[in-house]
Amino acid sequence: MEIIIQPNVEIATALAARLLGKIIREKPEVVLGLATGSTMEVHYRSLEANKLDWSGVTTFNLDEYVGLAPDHPQSYHHFMQKHLFQHVNVSPQSVNIPDGMAKNIPAECEAYERKLFAAGGIDLQLLGIGTDGHIGFNEQTSSLASRTRLKTLTPQTRKDNARFFGSEEQVPHHVVTMGIGTILESRHCVMLAFGARKAKAIAEAVEGPITSMNPASALQLHPKVTVFLDEAAAADLTLKNYYRWVYDQKPDWQKL
Ligand code: F6R
Repeated sequence: MEIIIQPNVEIATALAARLLGKIIREKPEVVLGLATGSTMEVHYRSLEANKLDWSGVTTFNLDEYVGLAPDHPQSYHHFMQKHLFQHVNVSPQSVNIPDGMAKNIPAECEAYERKLFAAGGIDLQLLGIGTDGHIGFNEQTSSLASRTRLKTLTPQTRKDNARFFGSEEQVPHHVVTMGIGTILESRHCVMLAFGARKAKAIAEAVEGPITSMNPASALQLHPKVTVFLDEAAAADLTLKNYYRWVYDQKPDWQKL
């Protein structure tokens, strides 16, 4: 895992956007795995500033709430339109987001996995992290081999996400999410985490044991993970000075 610690959110997101820009320029037909949430909101803003050509890009979102129509202001369909898709030239036919309104959720999940496979798999998966270590909506004790499926949100995640809905009661109980096994098949995982509330989850994910109690810790099994942090999110990392040193020693050809 490569841990990149930056002084603040703006610098960290600009750097992550540079990485994404490099990847889109190198492979215009890239398949991207996308996430939502407040971390991604900031990231998508800095991506937009990079004026990239998205015409060949295919996207697969990690998750969606069950029971929210695409035009619901808190649906992830709506989030993606508002924060990314309406600002870039991605083709609507190349955008994939799980259908939380599907009548047959298990069939929708299987179809999503098949579509992902047919697209050749994900080249780069963007990830945020929950305060409990969830990635996508794979909550604590999710199988580390899980595939796209229905999940029940924990009370903590519903509380965390209530800020988007106005009240906790309005946060759906269920979601469709790519599994941890699905995420681990991406060729490159890029995680972003900012702020003190993420510090514990990040320290456990990066330096703790691999455990379903912190689903993001499964990323330790992945050969190519890049984690962008601000100082606050990096605060609990035991080896933070080592990660900084490694980053400073990077050979020129590896620099962003
Ligand atoms: C949502 C997703 C979640 C979020 C996580 C952090 O698509 O993948 O795992 O990344 O809940 O959310 P924020 O960034 O709002 O703290």
